[in-house]
Amino acid sequence: MLPTTELVAFWRRLGTYPNLPDKGSFGEPVDTIEIGPFDPKYRNDVASVILPIQQSELSIPISLEAQPDLMDIPRYYQKDNGNFWVALDKERVVGTVALQDIGQQQGALRKMFVTRAYRGPELGVSGGLLKKLLAWCRERGLRGVFLGTSSKYPAVHRFYEKNGFKQIGRQELPPSFPVMGLDDRFYALEL
Ligand SMILES: CC(C)(COP(=O)(O)OP(=O)(O)OC[C@H]1O[C@@H](n2cnc3c(N)ncnc32)[C@H](O)[C@@H]1OP(=O)(O)O)[C@@H](O)C(=O)NCCC(=O)NCCS
Repeated sequence: MLPTTELVAFWRRLGTYPNLPDKGSFGEPVDTIEIGPFDPKYRNDVASVILPIQQSELSIPISLEAQPDLMDIPRYYQKDNGNFWVALDKERVVGTVALQDIGQQQGALRKMFVTRAYRGPELGVSGGLLKKLLAWCRERGLRGVFLGTSSKYPAVHRFYEKNGFKQIGRQELPPSFPVMGLDDRFYALEL
Protein backbone atom coordinates (compact mmCIF):
# COMPACT_ATOMS: atom_id res chain seq x y z
CA MET A 1 0.00 0.00 0.00
CA LEU A 2 1.38 3.43 -0.94
CA PRO A 3 1.60 6.09 1.76
CA THR A 4 -1.28 8.60 1.46
CA THR A 5 0.93 11.33 0.01
CA GLU A 6 2.09 9.09 -2.84
CA LEU A 7 -1.37 7.72 -3.45
CA VAL A 8 -2.88 11.18 -3.75
CA ALA A 9 -0.08 12.41 -6.04
CA PHE A 10 -0.75 9.33 -8.18
CA TRP A 11 -4.53 9.94 -8.30
CA ARG A 12 -3.92 13.53 -9.35
CA ARG A 13 -1.70 12.47 -12.20
CA LEU A 14 -4.16 9.85 -13.40
CA GLY A 15 -7.09 12.23 -13.03
CA THR A 16 -8.97 9.46 -11.20
CA TYR A 17 -10.77 11.90 -8.91
CA PRO A 18 -11.18 15.22 -10.76
CA ASN A 19 -12.73 16.92 -7.71
CA LEU A 20 -9.82 16.32 -5.33
CA PRO A 21 -9.23 19.39 -3.13
CA ASP A 22 -6.18 21.59 -3.78
CA LYS A 23 -2.67 20.24 -3.64
CA GLY A 24 -1.43 19.99 -0.11
CA SER A 25 -4.81 19.22 1.41
CA PHE A 26 -3.70 15.65 1.93
CA GLY A 27 -0.25 16.70 3.02
CA GLU A 28 1.24 15.77 -0.35
CA PRO A 29 3.82 18.44 -1.05
CA VAL A 30 4.03 17.92 -4.80
CA ASP A 31 5.24 21.47 -5.44
CA THR A 32 8.09 21.33 -3.01
CA ILE A 33 10.58 19.04 -4.70
CA GLU A 34 14.14 20.09 -4.02
CA ILE A 35 17.20 18.67 -5.70
CA GLY A 36 20.53 18.74 -3.94
CA PRO A 37 23.77 16.84 -3.56
CA PHE A 38 23.76 13.58 -1.63
CA ASP A 39 24.52 13.75 2.07
CA PRO A 40 25.39 10.58 4.02
CA LYS A 41 22.26 11.10 6.16
CA TYR A 42 20.25 10.00 3.07
CA ARG A 43 22.14 6.72 2.60
CA ASN A 44 19.33 4.42 3.78
CA ASP A 45 16.64 6.46 2.03
CA VAL A 46 18.50 6.24 -1.26
CA ALA A 47 18.65 2.46 -0.93
CA SER A 48 14.93 2.42 -0.06
CA VAL A 49 14.13 4.22 -3.32
CA ILE A 50 16.45 2.26 -5.62
CA LEU A 51 16.20 -1.33 -4.36
CA PRO A 52 12.40 -1.82 -4.69
CA ILE A 53 12.51 -0.40 -8.23
CA GLN A 54 15.36 -2.72 -9.19
CA GLN A 55 13.92 -5.79 -7.51
CA SER A 56 10.15 -5.47 -7.97
CA GLU A 57 9.66 -3.19 -10.96
CA LEU A 58 12.64 -4.18 -13.10
CA SER A 59 12.85 -7.77 -11.74
CA ILE A 60 16.61 -7.55 -11.26
CA PRO A 61 17.67 -9.91 -8.48
CA ILE A 62 20.25 -7.59 -6.96
CA SER A 63 20.99 -6.73 -3.34
CA LEU A 64 22.38 -3.62 -1.71
CA GLU A 65 25.54 -5.50 -0.82
CA ALA A 66 26.11 -6.27 -4.50
CA GLN A 67 26.23 -2.52 -5.18
CA PRO A 68 29.27 -1.20 -3.35
CA ASP A 69 28.73 2.20 -4.97
CA LEU A 70 25.47 2.60 -3.03
CA MET A 71 27.15 1.56 0.20
CA ASP A 72 29.69 4.37 -0.14
CA ILE A 73 28.33 7.09 -2.42
CA PRO A 74 30.89 9.79 -1.48
CA ARG A 75 33.81 7.49 -2.30
CA TYR A 76 32.39 6.23 -5.61
CA TYR A 77 30.74 9.33 -6.99
CA GLN A 78 31.47 12.53 -5.06
CA LYS A 79 35.04 12.95 -6.24
CA ASP A 80 36.82 14.54 -9.21
CA ASN A 81 34.06 15.74 -11.56
CA GLY A 82 31.52 13.24 -10.22
CA ASN A 83 28.56 13.81 -7.92
CA PHE A 84 25.30 12.26 -6.73
CA TRP A 85 22.02 14.14 -6.37
CA VAL A 86 18.80 13.38 -4.54
CA ALA A 87 15.32 14.77 -5.17
CA LEU A 88 13.60 15.50 -1.88
CA ASP A 89 9.95 15.93 -1.09
CA LYS A 90 10.11 17.56 2.32
CA GLU A 91 13.27 15.65 3.27
CA ARG A 92 11.95 12.40 1.84
CA VAL A 93 14.10 11.01 -1.00
CA VAL A 94 11.98 10.43 -4.12
CA GLY A 95 14.64 10.32 -6.82
CA THR A 96 18.35 9.90 -7.46
CA VAL A 97 20.96 10.35 -10.17
CA ALA A 98 24.73 9.88 -10.20
CA LEU A 99 27.56 11.14 -12.34
CA GLN A 100 30.76 9.13 -12.37
CA ASP A 101 33.92 10.82 -13.59
CA ILE A 102 35.37 8.50 -16.24
CA GLY A 103 38.27 10.76 -17.24
CA GLN A 104 38.99 12.72 -20.42
CA GLN A 105 36.37 15.31 -19.34
CA GLN A 106 33.60 12.72 -19.75
CA GLY A 107 31.02 11.34 -17.34
CA ALA A 108 28.87 8.24 -16.91
CA LEU A 109 25.27 8.85 -15.85
CA ARG A 110 24.12 6.18 -13.42
CA LYS A 111 21.48 5.45 -10.78
CA MET A 112 18.64 7.43 -12.36
CA PHE A 113 15.65 6.29 -10.30
CA VAL A 114 12.42 8.06 -9.44
CA THR A 115 9.73 6.70 -7.12
CA ARG A 116 6.79 5.75 -9.31
CA ALA A 117 4.29 8.27 -7.92
CA TYR A 118 6.73 11.09 -8.65
CA ARG A 119 7.31 10.32 -12.33
CA GLY A 120 6.14 12.27 -15.33
CA PRO A 121 7.01 15.67 -16.74
CA GLU A 122 4.32 17.39 -14.63
CA LEU A 123 6.22 17.00 -11.39
CA GLY A 124 9.55 17.47 -13.13
CA VAL A 125 11.51 15.22 -10.77
CA SER A 126 13.40 13.19 -13.38
CA GLY A 127 13.83 16.22 -15.63
CA GLY A 128 15.04 18.27 -12.66
CA LEU A 129 17.61 15.64 -11.70
CA LEU A 130 18.90 15.47 -15.25
CA LYS A 131 19.04 19.27 -15.52
CA LYS A 132 21.05 19.48 -12.32
CA LEU A 133 23.51 16.88 -13.56
CA LEU A 134 23.92 18.56 -16.95
CA ALA A 135 24.37 22.02 -15.42
CA TRP A 136 27.12 20.57 -13.22
CA CYS A 137 28.78 18.95 -16.24
CA ARG A 138 28.76 22.23 -18.16
CA GLU A 139 30.14 24.15 -15.16
CA ARG A 140 32.95 21.64 -14.94
CA GLY A 141 33.68 21.78 -18.65
CA LEU A 142 32.77 18.15 -19.36
CA ARG A 143 32.55 17.26 -23.06
CA GLY A 144 30.12 14.37 -22.97
CA VAL A 145 27.85 12.18 -20.85
CA PHE A 146 27.34 8.47 -21.57
CA LEU A 147 24.93 5.92 -20.16
CA GLY A 148 23.97 2.30 -20.52
CA THR A 149 20.55 0.75 -20.09
CA SER A 150 18.58 -2.29 -21.14
CA SER A 151 16.68 -2.59 -24.42
CA LYS A 152 13.76 -3.83 -22.27
CA TYR A 153 12.91 -0.38 -20.84
CA PRO A 154 11.08 1.78 -23.43
CA ALA A 155 10.20 4.52 -20.92
CA VAL A 156 13.90 4.94 -20.16
CA HIS A 157 14.73 5.24 -23.88
CA ARG A 158 12.00 7.79 -24.38
CA PHE A 159 13.15 9.81 -21.37
CA TYR A 160 16.73 10.12 -22.58
CA GLU A 161 15.84 10.60 -26.24
CA LYS A 162 13.41 13.43 -25.52
CA ASN A 163 16.18 15.03 -23.46
CA GLY A 164 18.62 15.07 -26.35
CA PHE A 165 20.60 11.85 -25.85
CA LYS A 166 21.52 9.92 -29.01
CA GLN A 167 21.74 6.15 -29.13
CA ILE A 168 25.27 4.94 -29.84
CA GLY A 169 26.90 1.57 -30.38
CA ARG A 170 28.82 -0.16 -27.62
CA GLN A 171 32.02 0.37 -29.62
CA GLU A 172 31.52 4.14 -29.45
CA LEU A 173 31.72 4.20 -25.65
CA PRO A 174 34.89 5.55 -24.07
CA PRO A 175 37.10 2.62 -22.96
CA SER A 176 36.76 3.73 -19.31
CA PHE A 177 32.94 3.57 -19.39
CA PRO A 178 31.69 1.05 -16.76
CA VAL A 179 29.36 -1.30 -18.69
CA MET A 180 26.93 -3.02 -16.27
CA GLY A 181 25.59 -6.56 -16.57
CA LEU A 182 22.23 -5.75 -18.16
CA ASP A 183 23.45 -2.91 -20.38
CA ASP A 184 22.81 -3.58 -24.06
CA ARG A 185 21.70 -0.13 -25.22
CA PHE A 186 23.85 2.97 -24.93
CA TYR A 187 23.35 6.70 -25.18
CA ALA A 188 25.54 9.78 -25.37
CA LEU A 189 25.00 13.50 -25.05
CA GLU A 190 27.62 15.89 -26.35
CA LEU A 191 27.88 19.07 -24.30
C1 LIG B 1 13.77 6.50 -16.02
C2 LIG B 1 12.95 7.42 -15.16
C3 LIG B 1 13.84 8.11 -14.15
C4 LIG B 1 12.32 8.49 -16.06
O1 LIG B 1 11.53 9.34 -15.26
P1 LIG B 1 10.02 9.68 -15.68
O2 LIG B 1 9.53 10.71 -14.71
O3 LIG B 1 9.27 8.42 -15.83
O4 LIG B 1 10.28 10.37 -17.11
P2 LIG B 1 9.24 11.09 -18.06
O5 LIG B 1 7.83 10.82 -17.65
O6 LIG B 1 9.66 12.52 -18.19
O7 LIG B 1 9.57 10.36 -19.43
C5 LIG B 1 9.24 9.03 -19.65
C6 LIG B 1 8.63 8.90 -21.01
O8 LIG B 1 8.40 7.52 -21.31
C7 LIG B 1 7.06 7.34 -21.68
N1 LIG B 1 6.69 5.97 -21.29
C8 LIG B 1 6.28 5.54 -20.08
N2 LIG B 1 6.06 4.22 -20.12
C9 LIG B 1 6.34 3.83 -21.41
C10 LIG B 1 6.29 2.60 -22.09
N3 LIG B 1 5.92 1.48 -21.47
N4 LIG B 1 6.64 2.56 -23.39
C11 LIG B 1 7.03 3.68 -24.03
N5 LIG B 1 7.11 4.90 -23.43
C12 LIG B 1 6.76 4.96 -22.13
C13 LIG B 1 6.31 8.42 -20.96
O9 LIG B 1 5.05 8.67 -21.56
C14 LIG B 1 7.27 9.59 -21.12
O10 LIG B 1 7.25 10.12 -22.43
P3 LIG B 1 6.44 11.49 -22.79
O11 LIG B 1 6.98 12.57 -21.92
O12 LIG B 1 6.68 11.67 -24.23
O13 LIG B 1 4.99 11.18 -22.46
C15 LIG B 1 11.82 6.65 -14.39
O14 LIG B 1 10.91 6.12 -15.33
C16 LIG B 1 12.32 5.53 -13.53
O15 LIG B 1 12.75 5.77 -12.39
N6 LIG B 1 12.26 4.30 -14.02
C17 LIG B 1 12.69 3.13 -13.25
C18 LIG B 1 14.15 3.13 -13.03
C19 LIG B 1 14.93 2.91 -14.29
O16 LIG B 1 14.54 2.14 -15.15
N7 LIG B 1 16.07 3.62 -14.33
C20 LIG B 1 17.00 3.50 -15.40
C21 LIG B 1 17.86 2.29 -15.19
S1 LIG B 1 18.88 2.07 -16.60
